[in-house]
Amino acid sequence: MASTHGAAQVLVASNRGPVSYEVQEDGSLHAKRGGGGLVSGLSAIGPDAGALWVCSALSDGDREAVRRGVGETGVRMLDIDAEVHADAYNGVANSVLWFVHHMLYQTPVEPVFDNEFWRQWGNYARYNRAFAEALAEEAGDGAAVLVQDYHLTLVPGMLRRLRPDLRIAHFSHTPWAPVDYFRMLPDRVAREVLEGMLGADLLGFLTHRWAEAFTACCTEIVGGLGDTRVGVHGLGADADFLRERSHEADVEERMAALRAEIGAGPDGQPRKTVVRVDRTELSKNIVRGLLAYRELLTDFPWWQERVVHVAFAYPSRQDLAVYRDYTAEVRRVADSINEEFGTADWTPVVLHVKDDFARSLAAYRLADVALVNPIRDGMNLVAKEVPVVSDEGCALVLSREAGAFEELGEDAIVVNPYDIGGTANALHEALGMAADERAERTKRLAASATALPPAAWFLEQLRALTG
Ligand code: F6P
Repeated sequence: MASTHGAAQVLVASNRGPVSYEVQEDGSLHAKRGGGGLVSGLSAIGPDAGALWVCSALSDGDREAVRRGVGETGVRMLDIDAEVHADAYNGVANSVLWFVHHMLYQTPVEPVFDNEFWRQWGNYARYNRAFAEALAEEAGDGAAVLVQDYHLTLVPGMLRRLRPDLRIAHFSHTPWAPVDYFRMLPDRVAREVLEGMLGADLLGFLTHRWAEAFTACCTEIVGGLGDTRVGVHGLGADADFLRERSHEADVEERMAALRAEIGAGPDGQPRKTVVRVDRTELSKNIVRGLLAYRELLTDFPWWQERVVHVAFAYPSRQDLAVYRDYTAEVRRVADSINEEFGTADWTPVVLHVKDDFARSLAAYRLADVALVNPIRDGMNLVAKEVPVVSDEGCALVLSREAGAFEELGEDAIVVNPYDIGGTANALHEALGMAADERAERTKRLAASATALPPAAWFLEQLRALTG
């Protein structure tokens, strides 16, 4: 009997897809393609593998593309009602689940689970259902479905009920909260999130620490993992792509421009650089990084005029007031350091907020020190990318709360992200590290960072699911 199902054999589901659309002034649509681990992963299985990426329309341009029937082969964008999407993405995923897993709440006053939250939770479930229904419709018999992240925690359970024949995986790109913190969620929500995910055959995490935290939540709240397997797949950097891309002409141009901005110190030598590249994200701890840099200049005044903090903080989740406020605070602290210490020819903090990938690579190449000090982070790929492209070796100051610490901790200078004095000392030590030690450590960091490049990371999960 002919199947009534779709034909896709490998399906990926994520909130943000590999392409986005903008309506141009003349009414035409401009498509912009993104990168990242899943894009490389899917291209690794080849064009004939029957792969389909199911994602949500995120902007008016995306919705227009869906309505006009414009699309990419291998991508199905869901035209989910804008209000439902906003409640699911901004309201629940980014303001509640993200905050829980990154432990970002100021607990004396938040979170508050009131009627407004329950209304948004209803829309989070609706948004998850739209994904589950689309996947159920598109998946061929026995297909493999890889669901991504905290936006889609209910999908595995919903999809399992619609299509018991499928093999379902869910991958968390975030940390997982410790039990006591996770239990801040209303009991029903905590249970529904865990039970939703346990609808999968396989749950993937970036580190053992996050996998163990998830398992502990299941033991305490829903009595265990049941038949679901838990695996750790530590996404690595894409060395081939990064090395090639970072030697293209636009990167060289930006290196020259950055060198001019950085300038030379009193001894005529090029100033040293402490580089950071992040989304302007609460969990990235950019403000404390600036405060630590200020303390470096105060406690070790020898560095004044001899170092520049190159900080790239790219806009993120600007629909949320708390992110807009945080962005303003980053600027305010950077300006205050420049006012306090700056001279006619030395700008202590060079802050750029306009996203520019070529300039990020240029900064990676010339960094003497990379500062990666998140409060908590699923992995942090910047920590892995810098050692791969660094020209002459770069000392890595790394938070012990970043997932990358599990693989890179030995060759990094490790910090407690809340400790400003400790971070200032670590910056001092990193800036003073001898060139040969820096180069040796960078080589080892690059080897660990590239142990599981994106394509292999994806195939490893697929094998674990279907093998
Ligand atoms: O780490 C989780 C994650 O969803 C990543 O996959 C992504 O790079 C990041 O957060 C940014 O998310 P958004 O789609 O909200 O910009």
